[in-house]
Amino acid sequence: MTKVICLGNQKGGCAKTSDCLNIAYSFANTKGYKVLLIDLDSQGSASLNVGINVADENINTIDELLGAYVKKEITSFDWEDVQNFIYTPTYLTRKRNGNNKWETVQEPFGFDIIPSALPLSLVELQMALVASQNTNGKINLYYLDDLIQCIKENADYDYIIIDTPPALGSLSMNAMMASDGVIVPSNLDIMSFRGIQSFKESADYVQSLAKQRGRDHRGILGILLSLYSERRSVDKALEEYVHEFYPTPTFQHQIRESSDAKRANAEGVLFAQINKKAKEDFDLVCDEIEFALNDKEGWEKKTEEVWQEIKKSREESKGANA
Ligand SMILES: Nc1ncnc2c1ncn2[C@@H]1O[C@H](COP(=O)(O)OP(=O)(O)OP(=O)(O)O)[C@@H](O)[C@H]1O
Ligand SMILES: [Mg+2]
Repeated sequence: MTKVICLGNQKGGCAKTSDCLNIAYSFANTKGYKVLLIDLDSQGSASLNVGINVADENINTIDELLGAYVKKEITSFDWEDVQNFIYTPTYLTRKRNGNNKWETVQEPFGFDIIPSALPLSLVELQMALVASQNTNGKINLYYLDDLIQCIKENADYDYIIIDTPPALGSLSMNAMMASDGVIVPSNLDIMSFRGIQSFKESADYVQSLAKQRGRDHRGILGILLSLYSERRSVDKALEEYVHEFYPTPTFQHQIRESSDAKRANAEGVLFAQINKKAKEDFDLVCDEIEFALNDKEGWEKKTEEVWQEIKKSREESKGANA
C-alpha cells in the first residue's frame, strides 16, 4: 500500500527540499522502494535540483494539472493525462563502457517526480478565489488528495513524498491532508522552531478532519533536526530545548551539516550520493519514518527512551568535566 508523507515548515531555508530529495533517494536506493516525489513548491527547487528545467515549456508541471482541477476545467483526474506529468530524473556520471573506456552517461536517481513551476502560486490564489465564492468560505483541502488517489489507484508506488513551500497556505494544507504523516524539518535556529508551533496546530486540524473521514492520519510524525553540528554547543542546547519544550516528538537521528549539501546542488547530484555520513543519516531517518508510520506510539516511546539516555549521558559527562 502506498504511504504518503510531506515535509513542511513555514520557515524558509530549513532544508525541507534537501531532506525530501535525499529521503526519496534513500527509500529508492537503500530500501529498493518505488518512490514518487511531488514538488508542491512554486520555487521548483526539488525539480531543479534533479535537473528538470521547469522553464522549458515542454515540461509538464503540477500547476497545469491542479490548476485545471481547481478551475473545474476537469472534474476528476485521468491517469492517461496524469502520467504525462511524471518524470524519471537523471544525473550525469562517468562509467566504463563495454570496451573498458570511460564515458559520460545519464543515470536515474531512482525515483520519479512530478515537477513544479512558478504558476503554482497562481493556483494557490485560485484556490482562495474559489473558497471566497463558496458559502462556507473554506479552502478545499482535498485537491491534491484527489490527485494522489488517482495515482494510488493506477501506480504501485511504495512512497509518495511531497515537498512544500515555506508558508502555511492552501498548498501546504493540501499536502498535509493528502499525507499519512507530516515531517517537520528544522535547522537549529530559534526562528525555525517558532514556525513549528503554528504548523503543529494546522497539522492537528488536518488530522482531525481526516479522522472524521475515517482516515488513519498520523499528524506530525516528528521534527527532523537538519543542518546539525554536534561540535556546536548551541546546536546541542537547542536540541535539548526542542525536546523539552515542544509537544512534538523529535527524530532520534539528525541530518548533519556539511558543505557537500551545497556542492551536490551545484553538481546536479544529491547530498547522500556524495557524502557517506549524509547517506547514513538519511538511511537511519528512513528507518525511523517507517517505524513511526507503522507504530507511532511505539516509535514515540522508543524515541523518548533514547532521548532520556542521551540526556543522562550528557549530564554525566558535564558533571565529570566540572
Ligand atoms: N545538511 C545540510 N548541510 C549543509 N547545508 C544544507 C544541508 N541541508 C540543506 N542545506 C543547504 O541549505 C540551503 C537550504 O536548503 P533547502 O533548499 O533544502 O531548504 P528549504 O527549507 O527547502 O528552503 P525553502 O524554504 O526556500 O523551500 C540550501 O543551500 C541547501 O544546500
Ligand atoms: Mg524548499
